[in-house]
Amino acid sequence: MPALVLIGAQWGDEGKGKATDQLGGSVDHVVKFNGGNNAGHTVVIGNETYALHLLPSGILSPGCTPVIANGVVIDLGVLFQEIDGLEARGIDTSKLVVSADAHVIASYNRILDKVTERFLGSRKIGTTGRGIGPTYADKMNRLGIRVQDLFDEKILRAKVEGALELKNQVLVKVYNRKAVTVESVVEDLLSYVDRLRPMVRDTGLLLSNALDEGKTVLLEGGQATLLDVDHGTYPFVTSSNATAGGACTGSGIPPNRIDQVIAVVKAYTTRVGEGPFPTELHDADGERLRANGHEYGTTTGRPRRCGWYDAVIARYAARVNGVTDFVLTKLDVLTGWEKIPVCVAYEVDGKRFDEMPMTQTDFHHATPVYEYFDGWTEDITTARTFDDLPKNAQLYIRALEEMSGAPFSSVGVGPDREQTLELRPLL
Ligand code: IMP
Repeated sequence: MPALVLIGAQWGDEGKGKATDQLGGSVDHVVKFNGGNNAGHTVVIGNETYALHLLPSGILSPGCTPVIANGVVIDLGVLFQEIDGLEARGIDTSKLVVSADAHVIASYNRILDKVTERFLGSRKIGTTGRGIGPTYADKMNRLGIRVQDLFDEKILRAKVEGALELKNQVLVKVYNRKAVTVESVVEDLLSYVDRLRPMVRDTGLLLSNALDEGKTVLLEGGQATLLDVDHGTYPFVTSSNATAGGACTGSGIPPNRIDQVIAVVKAYTTRVGEGPFPTELHDADGERLRANGHEYGTTTGRPRRCGWYDAVIARYAARVNGVTDFVLTKLDVLTGWEKIPVCVAYEVDGKRFDEMPMTQTDFHHATPVYEYFDGWTEDITTARTFDDLPKNAQLYIRALEEMSGAPFSSVGVGPDREQTLELRPLL
């Protein structure tokens, strides 16, 4: 049985939560392998809407084991808040397991995320302010605090002391902030240890055993391809590997055990935070996409920047991730436009680019080359098969598929579980 990777093809918020939830019924383990509570998945089941930030969406599928793997950075306060919130609504969270190797977000990293952004002024990244970047930086600098460190108070204290030595200098002398005490950090982290202990496992071993036993493992990426620290629009990216390669390093599952890579792609494009975005609309069409698509951040509530579908980006995502299936989402948002533009290439200084330009400078200056497709006015939210769709919607889907570099497996026509048209079986 397979290991599947599910990632975002654009700049996030493609609707990965719904796609994972849909697979959740037929997978045994859903694994979060990167990021932290910067993510935001909205899952609608019947009349209930669940907004998840840190927990894998598999938490909502009975029978599925949700795993927070080594590649994740965990804000323990948020973890238990989310668990308590779901339990209060009758969701059983007792199967959740957490990697002993995952890093924890300490209070000083949340502070540093916010003050650094303020300090950068117009050069800011537009982070979610959750401490994600500074925590990954600590990991790379070998100053990080891991889940397992919480089980040895002496080691924990020594590590926090080591980390704060430099950070307090920076907080006080550069940013004119108060120093953080070792005691406050240690006390805060230890306050979670009793609840955390029973969840902690060697998740690499657990997942390897699960695959040996023929179980299905779904590796769910936070953020998306163009927010990947290596393959995204650096420096306007998150600080982890959100692409399919990150699924291996972030979980301990080797590349040759991955069978399928599913990329979720929206029928148009959105982005939160700063950074280049060639098809961005600053007009009434952009406003309309935002309103129709409810494009406001799940985590920060920020309005998302909106623009047309970009096939150059989809092809890039197909290549970088080795996409075997695309899941197209939110097609219903495009209902009512007479003509729908799709970006098929870029132009930079009079030169055409069919692939992502090599440099950020060129990408910043890229203007879209559009092809125009006929729209439809019929309500498509009640469609349940491809054949139920108006002809022009069918043509739009097939045209995107043709130019995006991998087959489309399903199309979303609304937020509910039922509002999905299957084009070919995913599993
Ligand atoms: P960070 O991940 O908080 O460091 O933010 C870095 C960039 O990634 C910012 O532009 C954020 O808006 C963006 N980002 C982080 N998580 C998400 C997400 O789940 N969806 C969309 N954008 C995100």
